[in-house]
Amino acid sequence: MKIAIAGATGTVGRHAARVAEQRGHEVVGLSRSLGTDLVSGNGLEEILHGVDAVIDVGNVQTTSTAASVDFFRTTSANLLAAEKSAGVRHHIALSIVGIDPVDSGYYAGKLEQERVVSAGEVPWTILRATQFHEFAEQTLARTTFGPFVLMPVATLQPVASAEVATSPVSLAEGEPRGRAADLGGPRVESLVDMARRYVRAAGIRKPVVPLRAPGALFSAMHRGALLAGVGATLGSQTFNEWLEERTRAGRLAGPDHAGGRPD
Ligand SMILES: NC(=O)c1ccc[n+]([C@@H]2O[C@H](COP(=O)([O-])OP(=O)(O)OC[C@H]3O[C@@H](n4cnc5c(N)ncnc54)[C@H](OP(=O)(O)O)[C@@H]3O)[C@@H](O)[C@H]2O)c1
Repeated sequence: MKIAIAGATGTVGRHAARVAEQRGHEVVGLSRSLGTDLVSGNGLEEILHGVDAVIDVGNVQTTSTAASVDFFRTTSANLLAAEKSAGVRHHIALSIVGIDPVDSGYYAGKLEQERVVSAGEVPWTILRATQFHEFAEQTLARTTFGPFVLMPVATLQPVASAEVATSPVSLAEGEPRGRAADLGGPRVESLVDMARRYVRAAGIRKPVVPLRAPGALFSAMHRGALLAGVGATLGSQTFNEWLEERTRAGRLAGPDHAGGRPD
């Protein structure tokens, strides 16, 4: 098959591209660094000629409702319009488990993406996954102030992004199915504990201080509302196993731990 991957250079996208190539598919990567801007949509229709399925794992790093909604609405609409013209038979989008009651900030954009895809004319599959193991690392990059790491009290079911990446490729190989079964990690974890284990492994000498964070996202996470529910498919790599793998590979954030993403 010929599969286009929107966001092919991202956390999930680069694994998805590798998996698709290993399975013998021809992969067309779409990202700004590969020469395609999904916000402008310029040249998309030509690029998608001959493509059988599009996997959308593109992303924007923002906590702004307006910016997130704008990005996911525009990029999804541009992809779907080009796919329709080019005769693409299947659009697969990766979304997030449990976001329905959190219609604000970054998650409002994910709900908008789901609305655009499910109302569109290209047959579709939406796969929702829980937070990736990288979530604690991304959160502490934004919540370290001076000598402290302030960590929201939250309950998650984190999953390996490499495992998540296999699913959209398998879905692309099959027929469009609407909402696919949710995908979650093997264990429910406390975000504070994840952050403490991460900080210890990375040699960051700062105490992790639990706090009740404001806002709809962390309120939902505090209630455990973003956990994989009954019927979800579960990945196998635990957070500890992921952390050991990253430690062995020397890929933990240093004491400045810059970067991080909002999802
Ligand atoms: N992280 C999580 O915990 C989590 C959990 C469940 C679901 N998800 C979903 O998984 C998806 C992928 O997330 P991720 O963390 O893998 O993303 P990521 O690492 O932030 O990667 C984003 C990708 O999108 C591309 N991109 C951004 N703006 C673009 C634009 N204007 N035009 C073309 N390409 C653009 C980036 O490449 P360039 O910069 O080169 O353009 C990059 O390849 C997202 O939709 C996210 O909501 C994430």
